[in-house]
Amino acid sequence: MVERIKTGIPGMDEILHGGVPKRNVVLLAGGPGTGKSIFGQQYLWSGLKSGEPGVFVALEEHPVQVRINMAQFGWDVRPYEEKGLFAMVDAFTAGIGEAAKRERYVVRDPDDVNLLIDVIREAIRDVSAVRVVVDSVSTLYLTKPSLARATVMRLKRVLSGLGTTSILVSQVSVTERGFGGPGVEHAVDGIIRLDLDEIDGELKRSLIIWKMRGTSHSMRRHPFIITDEGIRIYHEKVLRVGKAGILEERTST
Ligand SMILES: Nc1ncnc2c1ncn2[C@@H]1O[C@H](COP(=O)(O)OP(=O)(O)O)[C@@H](O)[C@H]1O
Ligand SMILES: [Mg+2]
Repeated sequence: MVERIKTGIPGMDEILHGGVPKRNVVLLAGGPGTGKSIFGQQYLWSGLKSGEPGVFVALEEHPVQVRINMAQFGWDVRPYEEKGLFAMVDAFTAGIGEAAKRERYVVRDPDDVNLLIDVIREAIRDVSAVRVVVDSVSTLYLTKPSLARATVMRLKRVLSGLGTTSILVSQVSVTERGFGGPGVEHAVDGIIRLDLDEIDGELKRSLIIWKMRGTSHSMRRHPFIITDEGIRIYHEKVLRVGKAGILEERTST
């Protein structure tokens, strides 16, 4: 029996046939506005709710802004930070600014991957993290794509080695079909892709699990929504994106 970490995101554990196998490093890929950050934050929050400490690595947004965004969904992480059950790694500010001075885990030079990994390791150890989200890994190699695989492998060794089950957010452009480059796609244990498709003047959200080591999973494209409570996946529905447009169907199971 494979040990699993339940994402706690409504509908997601159903299509994962129980949850993410423990220690997996999962790439969460998608274009802008597809819900990657919210997905990652909800994954961490449901961990906190079920007694699993977590770490959020903020590479893309100011940590203060991340806390505000999360609180808007009712996910207030501050009490958990105070109790040593949650850590925010600031790999955004480089320690610049008044707000940054109040951060506990600051990466002084976010371009220095060694330093970043040291701070992540310290945060994981301090809170005994079970879940980690890095938002986003793309930031680490946008200007040096040849380093993408090596960077992800190093992160994977630390995250999996310390026993965490983690999500690496990967940015892809609106038109790109892949998940963030061949080196990265092959290095990770799982790939979840979030999509937005414009059909008849309306944007439709959907998600597909492309790969997940250690488990069977749904092979279908499932519609999902974002509300004030976060993400909800319609695990019993399938979204078919075809030439004739988009069709939502209820599956027989
Ligand atoms: N309270 C909300 N209700 C509904 N949709 C929301 C809400 N908050 C954010 N969104 C949607 O989520 C999107 C941003 O999601 P986010 O996870 O930040 O995207 P990404 O990280 O993939 O760029 C917004 O563009 C908006 O469409
Ligand atoms: Mg984002």
